[in-house]
Amino acid sequence: MSHLPRGPQGRLLTTYQFIARPYEFLHRCAATYGGVFNVPMYNRDVVMAGSPASVQDVMTAPPETFVAYSTQSIGLLLGSHSLLMLSGERHRRERKLLTPPFHGDRMRAYAAAMAEIAARRFAEAARAPRAVAQEVAQAISLDVILRAVFGVEEPARMRAFARAVVAMGDAVTPAMAFLPFLQREFGGFGPYARFRRRVADLEALMREQIERARAAPGDDILSLLVSARYDDGSAMSEQAIFDELRTLLFAGHETTAIALAWALDHVHRDPGVLARLQGEIDALGPDPDPERLAALPYLDAVCKEALRIYPVATEVPRLVAQPFRLGEHELQPGTGVAPCVLLVHHLPELYPEPSRFRPERFLERKFSPFEYLPFGGGARRCIGAAFALFEMKIVLGTALSAWQVRLLDERAPRPVRRNVTFGPSGGVPLALRARARGAHRAAA
Ligand code: HEM
Repeated sequence: MSHLPRGPQGRLLTTYQFIARPYEFLHRCAATYGGVFNVPMYNRDVVMAGSPASVQDVMTAPPETFVAYSTQSIGLLLGSHSLLMLSGERHRRERKLLTPPFHGDRMRAYAAAMAEIAARRFAEAARAPRAVAQEVAQAISLDVILRAVFGVEEPARMRAFARAVVAMGDAVTPAMAFLPFLQREFGGFGPYARFRRRVADLEALMREQIERARAAPGDDILSLLVSARYDDGSAMSEQAIFDELRTLLFAGHETTAIALAWALDHVHRDPGVLARLQGEIDALGPDPDPERLAALPYLDAVCKEALRIYPVATEVPRLVAQPFRLGEHELQPGTGVAPCVLLVHHLPELYPEPSRFRPERFLERKFSPFEYLPFGGGARRCIGAAFALFEMKIVLGTALSAWQVRLLDERAPRPVRRNVTFGPSGGVPLALRARARGAHRAAA
């Protein structure tokens, strides 16, 4: 039995290729070495699990086999209490507290707010001759998180939060996220010092919001966290609440916006897909009920296909904490192992013509959690998965019901790295025109 599978050589070169051009790099490695290969990164070996069987090995291993990956860089960006930092019992305990608000009736309670926010933001975007889908979607997903998670409702306060969040996000550079040794303040200068100042601005707003939630709890997630108790009856510390709120912002707002921007682009590059989707949405009549939108099968398939073809996270790494058997390889503690979302989503035996946007594949067959994993899996699966898909369907459905979209860039966008996520190059520029009300009646 071997310890590490074969893979490319040269730590600095592979680190550079992985950060700069991961799509090309991962596909090239898979073509040369097969579905499971080792990538020597600057600080450790990371084994890519790019086949459903190897993904299954990772996702079904006992949770204590792994600990969170890259805690050093995450800790400095999101704080030491962040769910993304935690492992073992603390991770399980924190997930139990954070997960319920993103599911079931609690999630559905946000449907009307999602539709109202989408309608308002698209109407604003339509006033300009040119809008950028990624920016419109990001404004929507941020408003949704501020409303659902932070309980912010007043427009002026929404704007203050939005400014602070965008400034914090813009202050993160890819190098800072991947190379923790750059996370130093250098006497108050440099990118990391700037980032810390943006965090302090946001925390000041959060502190006020926590006071408000204590004084008058609402239906938002912050109010739940303020009053939540662990099994032993203790409450979350203020710092833990800050770190988790920042984690939810970081993990939940840009990701959803990127997925929406891709979906808008794909749908409008294929007249057949657009006609089928538009017909399904229009059959609900004008101003469709958001919960009925979220139940539409083709709209669901469109959103899933957008997340398949260009996954927002190309892989979901863990750090091996106990000797772990991956197929014929025995991985030692300290090695990274990463179910590779991108490679699995492009296996032609699962997804024929993998580069083609074809939502029908999700109506024709079901995929196992080891074959389709845009939200990762196992003990660390995204806690916002159901919420994000729900939001995507409501936003896309609300937009297509009211607006005719024209893409302004003839060339399809490429996936480019933002920080740890990937978005469409150029952000998908578009122009919007109001649709005639009669269109819905005809379909209905
Ligand atoms: C389309 C949108 C989204 C995508 C593609 C996405 C994707 C992911 C992925 C790939 C992971 C890592 C899973 C793993 O390691 O197995 C993750 C984790 C996470 N996501 Fe999401 N996510 C999205 C939206 C959201 C939203 C809306 C929230 C909440 C507001 C959220 C909160 C989280 C959290 C807290 C984690 C960490 C879970 C843990 O470590 O236990 N995500 N997400």
